[in-house]
Amino acid sequence: MTHGTSSDAYGRVAIGIHWLTAVLIIGLMASGILAENSTDETLKAAVLRLHAPMGIAILLLTLLRIAWWWRFDTRPGPLGTNPAWQEFLAKAVHLLLYVVMIGMAASGIGMFVLSGAGDILFAGAPGPLPDFATFAPRTPHGIGAKLMIALLAIHAGAALYHHFIRRDATLKRMWFAASK
Ligand code: HEM
Repeated sequence: MTHGTSSDAYGRVAIGIHWLTAVLIIGLMASGILAENSTDETLKAAVLRLHAPMGIAILLLTLLRIAWWWRFDTRPGPLGTNPAWQEFLAKAVHLLLYVVMIGMAASGIGMFVLSGAGDILFAGAPGPLPDFATFAPRTPHGIGAKLMIALLAIHAGAALYHHFIRRDATLKRMWFAASK
């Protein structure tokens, strides 16, 4: 197994970043929606104490991913069996996923900094949690959440379509066993 990508499979660094990101995104979406709908302050605070570091972790992982593709590795070519519009759509969705992940992390950090929630949750500052809706970054964070759900549905739906219906190597080459 190599660190780098070969012509027919992603390398283990790229695969590791991909699946770690997937786990964090699921955790972030679930905890974000739970925090938003929670009427219990203590529960909301506990959830946000997990949500914020996960969001920062995914930001760092995304920056690492950009550096990885930019400086150290090259993506495998297309399988050659897909119509051009599908290749284009896949690339556009990947790019938008990067943009939305970075935008959500940035707006989340913005909400914490502007509202003082970071100090209340992590530095022992007194006071109840702020009403995040009164801070500007809450709007892009909410729009990003909806976009993220749509993008993930297309992204994961396409991967499952390729795996189970087309039965090609799209999903397999993003798994460790395929990376020699
Ligand atoms: C890629 C990273 C992130 C994702 C995918 C994400 C996801 C979410 C989602 C789905 C919601 C619910 C929004 C809604 O339904 O309108 C939410 C709310 C929230 N997130 Fe994030 N988030 C991320 C990063 C962050 C970071 C880094 C912070 C703070 C440092 C943060 C702080 C918050 C706060 C304060 C709320 C609002 C809770 C409320 O309105 O009551 N998020 N997030």
